[in-house]
Amino acid sequence: MERVRTGVAGLDELIEGGIPKGSVVLISGSPGTGKTIFALQFLVEGIRNGEKALYISFEENRLAITDQARQFGWDLEKLEKGGKLKIACFNMPKTSVVNVNAEMEQVAKAVKPDRVVVDSLSVLLVYLEMSSRLELASQAGMSVDKANNFISEEAATRASVLTTIANIRSWGGTSLLTAEMPETANYLSRDTISSFVADGVIKVSWLEALGKRSLAVKKMRSTNNVLEPRSFSIGPKGIIVEKE
Ligand SMILES: Nc1ncnc2c1ncn2[C@@H]1O[C@H](COP(=O)(O)OP(=O)(O)OP(=O)(O)O)[C@@H](O)[C@H]1O
Ligand SMILES: [Mg+2]
Repeated sequence: MERVRTGVAGLDELIEGGIPKGSVVLISGSPGTGKTIFALQFLVEGIRNGEKALYISFEENRLAITDQARQFGWDLEKLEKGGKLKIACFNMPKTSVVNVNAEMEQVAKAVKPDRVVVDSLSVLLVYLEMSSRLELASQAGMSVDKANNFISEEAATRASVLTTIANIRSWGGTSLLTAEMPETANYLSRDTISSFVADGVIKVSWLEALGKRSLAVKKMRSTNNVLEPRSFSIGPKGIIVEKE
């Protein structure tokens, strides 16, 4: 099986050399745990190997992203000018709820990326839940008001998670989706279903009592992954996972 190196020092050894090519992997964690930095590091690694990268952001604007990346020596503007990277920012209210899937699709088809990041799936789902309600209603031949009585919020979320992950998978790259997780949660993503649908889940956290960051590979299909969590740090070159 072909594997894709993550570019995160110390991580690939935990997953038999890298993420299986073409997988959709969640990077889940609470705020400030390093999900965006991880995702950028993953894209930069691909570009270093001659791959094309697509970064879709629903959270931060272009300037915030490029400023954060520069701290680790990653010049995203230069990479974008060189045609190796595309940064696509979708922000409310500019992006309409109904068009978001089509707009992402259009960017992905134009770029044909080897590596994709969606940051974050959780915010994207807020858009998609609305649009999937509209779609389910029209399939059922009902008005949205009437359909809302039949389609629970949970069903709408589940429908959009399934559609979105299938769409992203169909673009053909290896994908990382960041997922927000409340600080105290016994599930791996706020929507609680994407971790089942995704091919892999990497959890990042800040262990306050121990004063350290921790990373665990919760799931990686077709991989004999190390199950124990490992400490990691964020330094001048990005994320480094410690040996033990
Ligand atoms: N230059 C740096 N050197 C070391 N650590 C940094 C540096 N820049 C940011 N950090 C750390 O990384 C954290 C932010 O990481 P990141 O943006 O990847 O988190 P996140 O999980 O994406 O957060 P959110 O859920 O809010 O999007 C900061 O809170 C800080 O602790
Ligand atoms: Mg982030």
